[in-house]
Amino acid sequence: MLIEFKKQRNWIVFTILATIASLVSYSYYADEMLKHGGKGPTGSTGPGLAYGIVGFAMMIFCGLLGARRAVRIWRLGRAKDWLNAHVWLGLLAFPLILCHSGFLMGHELTFWLMVLFIIVELTGILGVVLQQYIPKIMLQMVKNESTFEQIPEVIQKLKIDAAVITACCCGNVGGKLNAAQQEEIEKKKAEKLKKDTEFKEKYAKMAPASADEEKAAIPLMNFFLDEVEPFLDPIYKSDSKLAELRKAAAVFNHVQTLLPQRLHLALTEIQGLCEERRQLQIQTRLHLYLHAWEYVHIPLSYLLLALSAFHVVIATFGYSGVLNK
Ligand code: HEM
Repeated sequence: MLIEFKKQRNWIVFTILATIASLVSYSYYADEMLKHGGKGPTGSTGPGLAYGIVGFAMMIFCGLLGARRAVRIWRLGRAKDWLNAHVWLGLLAFPLILCHSGFLMGHELTFWLMVLFIIVELTGILGVVLQQYIPKIMLQMVKNESTFEQIPEVIQKLKIDAAVITACCCGNVGGKLNAAQQEEIEKKKAEKLKKDTEFKEKYAKMAPASADEEKAAIPLMNFFLDEVEPFLDPIYKSDSKLAELRKAAAVFNHVQTLLPQRLHLALTEIQGLCEERRQLQIQTRLHLYLHAWEYVHIPLSYLLLALSAFHVVIATFGYSGVLNK
């Protein structure tokens, strides 16, 4: 979900002021501790504990974003507001936890807590940055955006459409397709010719009317079987000549020179289908980039919360010496 930074003034001001307030109060309290001959600020002093409690409460709130998603039905406020609070309180929790730890990385359990916290913070920031840019890039690069879940179905349809066009121009699509695929194409072709008048007008007249015309369409059938059909597979063929816009244009131009004029429109339609397949691949890749960080951020954030709770229990019951020496 996109964070609209223009509408975040209050959150930005609050986070900056709260960070400054915690750093100023920390420096005062650290000075006082040192002045009075103490061992310096730690998590177990009064102010140290206060930073820890507030910081951990914010972390727990951040973790509740997942629970809120799971129970959308409860109407617990707008998703956007939850996300804004998640991001800004998640960021604010970091200086608070640093004040709690006395700006130290700790050792053993507390060291690993800090490492996890840093990773969760960095992946969260990465997520926000990706969510700002990737949808914009997608809009520029992909003309007909499909929902991610629909992509396999759309690819299947592209392949069938290309096969139907080829079958209309060439009589059939040859022996490389299995019987079930041939049957499917014949069925779709008959359906399209029956229902789609535009399609009927365009392609019925391209059907070969003589043995010579059938022969003239052979390069199209070969091109479909050798290049188009494999390229329109659900598993993307990135090494295909059709995978790159410029190379594909050159290949289509070449095939056009091998075909009679009456088949040029069909070839252009097939080129459009291949371009759509290429764009679906770009969309798939961008979708992956957009969500890959979540596979780190979400599980590690739950691990961080669980280990932090363990740390709280151990510190409360006075066993910190056992684990943290
Ligand atoms: C205190 C530590 C944090 C914890 C425990 C935490 C936890 C989580 C969890 C559990 C989710 C998944 C929610 C779901 O199931 O969909 C999530 C998503 C997310 N987090 Fe965090 N997070 C923390 C800090 C941050 C920070 C500092 C940022 C950014 C600066 C951030 C940005 C995000 C974003 C953008 C999402 C995805 C929201 C969406 O689906 O659009 N998180 N976080």
